Amino acid sequence: MSDSTPPADGPRRSAAGPGVGSAPSPVGPAGGDLVPAAPVRHVGPPPSAPRGPAGGLTRTASPDDLDRVQFEAAEDNRAERRVALTFVISFLATVGFIGAYIFMKIDTASYGSWQNYVLGATLALALFTLGAGQIMWAKSLIPKEYAVQERHDGASSEEERTALEETFLAGADQLGIGRRRLARRTLLLAAGVFPLTGLVILRDLGPAPGNTLRHTAWRRGNYLVDVETKQRIQAGEMRIGAILTVMPEKYEELTEEETATSPTILIRLRPGENQPLPGRENWVVGGHVAYSKICTHAGCPTSLFETQTAHLLCPCHQSTFKVDQGCKVIFGPAARALPQLPIAVDPNGYFFAQSDYLEPVGPSFWERG
Ligand code: FES
Repeated sequence: MSDSTPPADGPRRSAAGPGVGSAPSPVGPAGGDLVPAAPVRHVGPPPSAPRGPAGGLTRTASPDDLDRVQFEAAEDNRAERRVALTFVISFLATVGFIGAYIFMKIDTASYGSWQNYVLGATLALALFTLGAGQIMWAKSLIPKEYAVQERHDGASSEEERTALEETFLAGADQLGIGRRRLARRTLLLAAGVFPLTGLVILRDLGPAPGNTLRHTAWRRGNYLVDVETKQRIQAGEMRIGAILTVMPEKYEELTEEETATSPTILIRLRPGENQPLPGRENWVVGGHVAYSKICTHAGCPTSLFETQTAHLLCPCHQSTFKVDQGCKVIFGPAARALPQLPIAVDPNGYFFAQSDYLEPVGPSFWERG
């Protein structure tokens, strides 16, 4: 019989000694084996079997028929060469990738794109053949066997539990955690300090805002200027129902934070329309009132004023403020009234601030504390 001819099924004899046998093969209509019998490996001791040094592991031998052995050896060599070939291809693809990376220039657009193609192709080929070779190795070079795991008792025996306990204690003893004081202490030091890395990186959030969020650029004596004309505003020049966005004079010189927190709206209400809150009677000049323009919900600019109802609307989420009643919230998600800026007029009738806002402007969060 030639090397390449599979042998006919013949009688199989055990070659591994006691306790080893062939797997039961499917039986055809004529009573012969349909597939070659594979070795059977018993994993773990059968419930009734005594446990030997190998933990009850028994193996069956391969058929020892000479032709079969020769055929399998030749096939094994061929499989190994196929595996080796895929690895060689992977190696060459890796070399090609490195060469393309080093030697292909990207001076021109077309040349650069070719380099990308070559890099992608060689890298993909290297990875694919590397993985394929390993799969082929596992499928064709590792001996096949049926594994049988015998069901064992649910609970561990007393000996096994004792052995586990001894193993654990022996491991702990080898680790020397109780004996090696220096190592233990330095370990605790390192492990205890390590979580600080999570705190340290909070510095990346930037400097703490301090009290900058509680104050704006408004100071006593700051004149109100129209942000469009940059001119001071004189009492009487605004028509009734008009609204202006104003800033402190020379606001171009303010910091970014001051510029963000200082926008204010100046509104002229009808005579007698305003109902000042207690203590704020002198914050109003001839029906003119000034409030922060920054919505107390999420900071959008409130600028939609309805003259007839004295409603000031925030366009973002429709919070509505009643201007003639201290800009209290009458609708929407805002949780508090718009802060009011105390204003007065100088002898020439120009508006100026009596002070900064007396409460934080902007979203309600900043009112806390
Ligand atoms: S920001 Fe004004 S209602 Fe939401």
